[in-house]
Amino acid sequence: MDDLRDKYIALIAEAGNEATLEELRVQAVGKKGEISLKMRELGKMTPEERQVMGPKLNTLKDEINSALAMKKEALADAALDERLKGEWLDVTLPGRARREGTIHPVSQVMEEVTAIFADLGFSVAEGPQIETDWYNFDALNIPGHHPARAEMDTFYTHRAEGDNRPPHVLRTHTSPVQIRSMEKHGAPIRIICPGRVYRADYDQTHTPMFHQVEGLAIGKDISMANLKWVLEEFFSAFFGTHVDTRFRASHFPFTEPSAEVDIQCEWVDGQVKVGEGNDWLEVLGSGMVHPKVLEAGGIDPNEYQGFAFGIGIDRLAMLKYGIPDLRAFFDSDLRWLRHYGFASLDQPTLHGGLSR
Ligand code: DAH
Repeated sequence: MDDLRDKYIALIAEAGNEATLEELRVQAVGKKGEISLKMRELGKMTPEERQVMGPKLNTLKDEINSALAMKKEALADAALDERLKGEWLDVTLPGRARREGTIHPVSQVMEEVTAIFADLGFSVAEGPQIETDWYNFDALNIPGHHPARAEMDTFYTHRAEGDNRPPHVLRTHTSPVQIRSMEKHGAPIRIICPGRVYRADYDQTHTPMFHQVEGLAIGKDISMANLKWVLEEFFSAFFGTHVDTRFRASHFPFTEPSAEVDIQCEWVDGQVKVGEGNDWLEVLGSGMVHPKVLEAGGIDPNEYQGFAFGIGIDRLAMLKYGIPDLRAFFDSDLRWLRHYGFASLDQPTLHGGLSR
């Protein structure tokens, strides 16, 4: 038995791979292995012999088995070490930079406008971009024959031959959302509606799709003075400096009285500076909501009154960020977007500053 032990312990120690080790296992403790055969001989022994030999053989078998197991583990460790040498990886290499997109100036300005008006107690309302002619025109006191319809260069949707219902339109302004909001929420109400609008027009300052933000405030005693305060408050927050406004009498079918509002500015070397100088720049239309419009929205004009305004968002973006040509806004030119775009994690807030 000592010979057997010495022989196998030595062979196991020498084994260079798992296959050899497995052969040794079969030879020694497999069904027909040397040690297994010895165990079978126990049956032929006298009980006294068996009492001595049995435990010895069991101990031998255990010894061989544990030697096999330890060698197996050692071989596996060695194989892993070998593999790891080949699979060396330099984790200090710098990563491959991924290009990050930017926030479009229009989206940025919409966020800024929303943040300022939210602070003034206005909530955001939305409406469809494809409107009925009733919401886009009639309800806003622009009847069928009104010249404003022609002036707006409206896009009409197609109706089938023989279908005489008035066609839907791509909304020409965000004003229809006034009506929808009044219908939905009644008075009092304070909302803004930023969104896309459409007109068939194209030059340096006009694109067929552009953006407006509509404002509406209805209550029992809201006046033109409130309108002026809100707008000055808005422009000063938006441009980050006090901005004087000038109200010029004007005409819109949906307001009475109506005013176009200019902001104070100065031209320096062909660049416009807002909040300085003695020039004026027209930026929005506004007025006291026409009684017929209140009625169309389901609000009693004898009980309620209020103001409304509509501002061009793209125009605001051009002014604030010094962008010369409106058409480039919608060209999707990556160089332009990288230059004028904003960091996506840098969302405008009043406490953090509106833009950086
Ligand atoms: N809807 C007008 C336009 O697109 C802008 C406007 C003017 C909106 C006066 C208003 C307003 O709410 O009161 O030109």
